[in-house]
Amino acid sequence: MKTLVMAGFALALMSGTALGDTIKIGVVGPFSGPAALQGKNFQAGIDAWLAINGNQIGDDTIEIVYRDLPAADPAQSAALTQDLIVGEGVQYLAGYYYTPDAMAAAPMLEEANVPLVVFNAATSAIVNASPYVVRTSFTTWQTSTPMAAVARERGINKMITVVSDYGPGVDAETAFVTGFTGAGGEIAESIRMPMNTNDFSPIMQRIKDSGAEGVFAFLPAGPATLGFMQAYVENGLKDAGVTLVAPGDLTQESDLPVLGPNALGVLTTFHYAVSHDSPENAAFVEAASKAIGNPSELSFPSVGAFDGMYVISKMIEATGGEQDAQAAVEAVKGLAWTSPRGPVSINPENRHITQNIYLREVAEVDGKFINKEIQTFENQNDPGWKAP
Ligand code: PHB
Repeated sequence: MKTLVMAGFALALMSGTALGDTIKIGVVGPFSGPAALQGKNFQAGIDAWLAINGNQIGDDTIEIVYRDLPAADPAQSAALTQDLIVGEGVQYLAGYYYTPDAMAAAPMLEEANVPLVVFNAATSAIVNASPYVVRTSFTTWQTSTPMAAVARERGINKMITVVSDYGPGVDAETAFVTGFTGAGGEIAESIRMPMNTNDFSPIMQRIKDSGAEGVFAFLPAGPATLGFMQAYVENGLKDAGVTLVAPGDLTQESDLPVLGPNALGVLTTFHYAVSHDSPENAAFVEAASKAIGNPSELSFPSVGAFDGMYVISKMIEATGGEQDAQAAVEAVKGLAWTSPRGPVSINPENRHITQNIYLREVAEVDGKFINKEIQTFENQNDPGWKAP
């Protein structure tokens, strides 16, 4: 007995005075199924952050606990979130690719005393669903608003809009129509497609029949965006000179090798391009490429996750590892840093990320298709956020 006590005392001395805790971070995302590449990018962003910064914060060790949610499924999201909180005892929640999944988790946060850092879901209203939600991705209002100005500047008078019929699609449509008509443009028609649409030929016919000079489109990045881009070319709209403009979800880098020359010249507005030219992005791309294995699979969800990990690390630092969601969220309001995407900050009013939005054009550089940044809209807040 005496030797045991002595041994324990020696161990405590060797490891410093306070023995640290393990802090679990629960991450929900699509890690299997058709959108698995998007979840793989969450993981690449997390792994890149851990490779650069390590898994120790003060005395504490962070541990990531993953839960697979292949499609937008609010009931399953609520069940997985509940299991992470109660079963795993996570102190932080993160990830959430689709808006309905983030919305389903938000009502549990206050009682659980757990902050949620959204790595992707992009409907403006999500931050109003709980005071414990912080977001490091973008909103479709934020990414679509500058595109309306660009389309007008490029002399397009009449547009048609096509979006997936759920939160981020409706937000994208509203942002684009507001900006475009506000700048004197005309909208021929606004089409909302069910989320599970995968035959886009009838939509392409409606676009042709509308007589619009251009189409603005939003779909959640994944198999649907690739299918939409291919249908635009295969149905002859590109050849007919119908200009396609979109937020960058439609030309995510992981789709560019497949789209190839068909995507050349497509204009998009977005918060992040893998080709962004900065030392911070070079370091990030190096680490994230190693993490994902195949660098051509890297895409925007990785940067939402990487910056999300930074925000969570600041929350853990500020609370000394104690579980205090309110103090953790308070601590990151106004936090500013240089992300791989450029300068960013957390707006203290809505807990959403303020950032540059870039106009990009798909270009071929050294035999590789990239989203080449050609113009910067600096320091963009979320224009879609309304005080609750
Ligand atoms: C969303 O569901 O909020 C969402 C998903 C994928 C995107 C953008 C938004 O590319």
